[in-house]
Amino acid sequence: MSVTNPENEMSMYDVHSDVDLGDMSDVRPIPRITIQCFCETEAVRQTLETAASDRRMSRAHISVNMGGILGAVNFYGTSPTPNLIIVETRHADESLMAELGQLADVCDADTKVIVVGHFNDILLYRELISNGISEYLVAPVTMADIMSSISGIFSSEQNGKLGRMMVFMGAKGGAGSSTICHNIAWSISSTYRNEVVLTDLDLAFGTANMNLDQDPTQGVADAVFSPERVDDILLDRLLAKCAEHLSLLAAPSTLERTYDFDANAFMPILEISQKTAPSVIVDLPNQWNGWTKQVLSSADEVIITAEPELANLRNAKNLIDTITEIRPNDNPCKLVMNKVGVPKRAEISVPEFAGALGLEVSATVPFDPALFSKAANNGQMISEADPKSPIVNSLLELTQIITGKAEVRSAKKGGLSFLKNISLGKKKQ
Ligand SMILES: Nc1ncnc2c1ncn2[C@@H]1O[C@H](COP(=O)(O)OP(=O)(O)O)[C@@H](O)[C@H]1O
Ligand SMILES: [Mg+2]
Repeated sequence: MSVTNPENEMSMYDVHSDVDLGDMSDVRPIPRITIQCFCETEAVRQTLETAASDRRMSRAHISVNMGGILGAVNFYGTSPTPNLIIVETRHADESLMAELGQLADVCDADTKVIVVGHFNDILLYRELISNGISEYLVAPVTMADIMSSISGIFSSEQNGKLGRMMVFMGAKGGAGSSTICHNIAWSISSTYRNEVVLTDLDLAFGTANMNLDQDPTQGVADAVFSPERVDDILLDRLLAKCAEHLSLLAAPSTLERTYDFDANAFMPILEISQKTAPSVIVDLPNQWNGWTKQVLSSADEVIITAEPELANLRNAKNLIDTITEIRPNDNPCKLVMNKVGVPKRAEISVPEFAGALGLEVSATVPFDPALFSKAANNGQMISEADPKSPIVNSLLELTQIITGKAEVRSAKKGGLSFLKNISLGKKKQ
């Protein structure tokens, strides 16, 4: 499977021996986030490059560039923003606020920003923090300063869970929920270049390994059968890397044992995944039992895939009603209509189906056996099997709806805006 984003590929940086490390004894490992840095001075660049090579940074993707804030503004005019941007500035006056305003214009709402400046000024610090900048550090900075700030911003203790959990279930077996789920995981990782952990919870019959052309010997079963061993180190070992930003926690897909679980059996591994990666995607089998209900009730987003026929409608209605009841304060379920237009099948129209559920349809995917079987047989995603198919666009729109992220800009936006008018660092709903 090809990796589509060479631009963001991690390069090994030099360790610069004269960098001040500071006190690294309490610095925690950095989670699976994407970090891009735009420096103005050699000293800050060397500190960041040395940090990039540290073992605590091995899960993160970090790139270090020169160019300062305006370099970042230029770059993000046409590229998606990462989880964290670190910018260095030599200004401390209005031109700093104006440049940050321009950066805010091209930033996703959930991207965090650390500013490294050269003025030790408490008023400036307060102004930046109150405008949504996550941290202001004063140069010269030590490596420990930088890494403690990053881990402070993204540590689960301070910030709740880092990762959003998006759970996919079909209204009926065979509706195509797993296929949609794997394609969306792929799409989030390749479109936004943010780390995604895809977890296949159909232990007996899961197909994520086949669809992503993987054959890992370990996976989710190793975690669920020894919950006492579950920690971030074990998770690292169990993840199979499918693409630059996509890792799979695979199902064994064998019948050597039976799979009966307690309601909370999957929570430890899902919680650890959420602590270390910004997006956790869960492929649930079409089953209703204690643990599927528990996973659904813990989800940030639930995506129900249904075919436009009667049994799917009845099941989707029951599922959506129950899921809404158990998570009343969360986003409503998203509905994907799949396999629309099976020849000679008497189908319920998509508007009628959605109307009966009181939901808008987030994506409509036609029945296309040639394309889907080609993708499945080749271990490819739909966008790889046929990049020109209109289904690729529907899946991209679904990715945007589920993540709440804006379309990746294709042209640079102009104009200044004041920082307070934007939501830098504040999560979009
Ligand atoms: N839109 C579609 N058109 C044709 N075949 C599809 C479509 N979506 C999924 N499929 C195929 O349907 C089968 C069942 O899909 P799967 O994702 O395993 O369903 P589920 O997880 O809901 O049981 C797979 O062979 C898949 O390739
Ligand atoms: Mg499935």
